[in-house]
Amino acid sequence: MGMHMGGGGFHMHGEEDEDDQRVRKVPDRVIALRLIKFPLKYRLNTVLMVLTALLQSGVALMPPVLIGMALDAANPEKVINLQTFTLAIIGFAVVNVLNFVAQYANNYLTNWLGGRMEFDIRSTMFKHFQKLSLRYYADKEVGSLISRPTNDVDKISELISSGIIHIFTDLLTLVGITVVMFSLSVDLSLIAFSIVPLMLVWMLVWGGRVRRVYRETRRAIASVSAQMEESVSGIKEIQTFSKENETRKEFQEVNTKNMDANVEATRVMGAFMPVITIFTSFGQALILYFGGRSVIDGTLTIGVLFTFMNYITRFFMPIQDLSQFWNSVQSAFAAAERVFAILDTPIEIKDPPNASELPSIQGNIVYDHMTFGYSNDVPVLKDINLVIDPNTTVAFVGPTGVGKTTMANLLYRFYDPLEGKITVDGHDLRDVKIDSLRKQMGIVLQDPFLFSGTIMDNIRYSRPKATDEEVIDVSKAIGAHEFIMRLPEGYQTDVKERGGRLSVGQRQLVSLARALLANPRILIMDEATSSIDAYTELIIQQAMNQLLKGRTAIVIAHRLSTVRNANMICVIEGGQVAEAGTHEELLKRSGLYKKLYEMQFKEPEAATPPTDVNQKPSMPRQRFGRP
Ligand SMILES: Nc1ncnc2c1ncn2[C@@H]1O[C@H](COP(=O)(O)OP(=O)(O)OP(=O)(O)O)[C@@H](O)[C@H]1O
Ligand SMILES: [Mg+2]
Repeated sequence: MGMHMGGGGFHMHGEEDEDDQRVRKVPDRVIALRLIKFPLKYRLNTVLMVLTALLQSGVALMPPVLIGMALDAANPEKVINLQTFTLAIIGFAVVNVLNFVAQYANNYLTNWLGGRMEFDIRSTMFKHFQKLSLRYYADKEVGSLISRPTNDVDKISELISSGIIHIFTDLLTLVGITVVMFSLSVDLSLIAFSIVPLMLVWMLVWGGRVRRVYRETRRAIASVSAQMEESVSGIKEIQTFSKENETRKEFQEVNTKNMDANVEATRVMGAFMPVITIFTSFGQALILYFGGRSVIDGTLTIGVLFTFMNYITRFFMPIQDLSQFWNSVQSAFAAAERVFAILDTPIEIKDPPNASELPSIQGNIVYDHMTFGYSNDVPVLKDINLVIDPNTTVAFVGPTGVGKTTMANLLYRFYDPLEGKITVDGHDLRDVKIDSLRKQMGIVLQDPFLFSGTIMDNIRYSRPKATDEEVIDVSKAIGAHEFIMRLPEGYQTDVKERGGRLSVGQRQLVSLARALLANPRILIMDEATSSIDAYTELIIQQAMNQLLKGRTAIVIAHRLSTVRNANMICVIEGGQVAEAGTHEELLKRSGLYKKLYEMQFKEPEAATPPTDVNQKPSMPRQRFGRP
């Protein structure tokens, strides 16, 4: 299954199932103690729940006794006792009304508690999710993260609310039935219970098989979902490489496995219940035989026999429930362990105690002997020293993977430096409220995320109070207005999930408008115009000169033409700022920048093979083709 475990969110069951089986690290006792705190928060509800459960199981014991009494009182061969008869009938009615009330109240209370708990745990998790750092999310799968507050929480709340109370009533019923049976007739009770050991053996032996085959079905359907999910997400690649048939064969395989697993499960489960029924009938037959003989002897009344027959049927139901209960405890505990693991993940990036508000900034940025790595042992940036003056535009350039984006991430305080510090206007980023820092910054990413909703709302995301006019002005300034007006509903066009309706370049424009609308003091553009055509980029650049005036801007770009006008260009290489200066200064220095620059402007010509006459015919021919 391994290779199908990557990607989205449909195959959560399989993974959980594997998790359920792995040895849990946290002892049951610890989890139980923590879980029990949830219902205990709602004390009144919990008390009422227990009381109604008690009432319900007590009341449920009564009808067979009352019916038995009525039968005996109405026996024409003995003295008919009308008073007892009437009492029994009235009692029967009362008991049933009480049963209804208790059951209704108990159902309501348990479901209320379950719903309440789900709500509580989910809110807590959501709050925590919002604060966890990017580092936490970097190696997590969305699908499995989402299944924590959904599936796992379902399992927990089910156990805490209905599961436990159900088992509680079952146990009470078992004890109640046993007591009543023994008090009515010790001999008959012993006969009835003689089949209990047989039944337990059957449940243990066959029950284990049932569990195993069901686990197999869960795993099989998980593979089906995983396959399905991957083929849908990867449909473009599948069709590109014409792998439809192979993919279908792979799917056929898991689909067949799933069917076989279900057939097997039906076969095993099919034998389980009928055998239980046989045992129950055997018990009934025993009671009927021995009890019937006692009735003939006159040592037992027909009413008591009826009561017994009724109880023996009821006795085995709770036993079955109990055997199921252990499973749900196990899976709920596994779920709880996963949920607690998330809740216990420390929040890495947070406001320090008594953090101060970052006052309105000028935009002076200093990287001061700053070292950083995503893991502690592999530094990405080493001892960076860089001063960025307010109201200047600084460009980060350099080969792929050297840490340009990382520089920006650190400035946004998505991560903290391992050594050294970053200051803005002299304030260490770690000393100020994150909120007050990020409010004064704007960022545009290479592949920006848009929320489902209108273009207008997406741009306004950075400053919800902005008027429509302000949104339109910003869009005009960066040249996004035209394409937006060409959309079916202009600014009111719904971009659909993740902005799927827009091209990457269009999303970059929207994202740029969004960042600028908030009028940030510091603006970071990480490959912000990489997917925009040269013409539009030119328009943006003209506008940019205007827009970047009066703020500190960091521009990350591979196309060096876009950063030529920057006040300072920093070439990052080997985890360090290898060179810094203006375009002209760096060209004069004939270092790495010059090499990069020349490569970008020479490469297309050099790369064109001289023999290729079909491509770019004019230039090469003139150069190489002249006779
Ligand atoms: N979340 C992460 N976890 C671990 N390592 C990471 C993470 N993000 C980036 N890296 C590593 O850090 C290094 C720098 O990455 P970064 O994204 O800053 O490069 P970059 O200069 O922006 O590259 P590009 O020009 O391709 O955007 C890379 O070697 C990358 O493998
Ligand atoms: Mg990058």
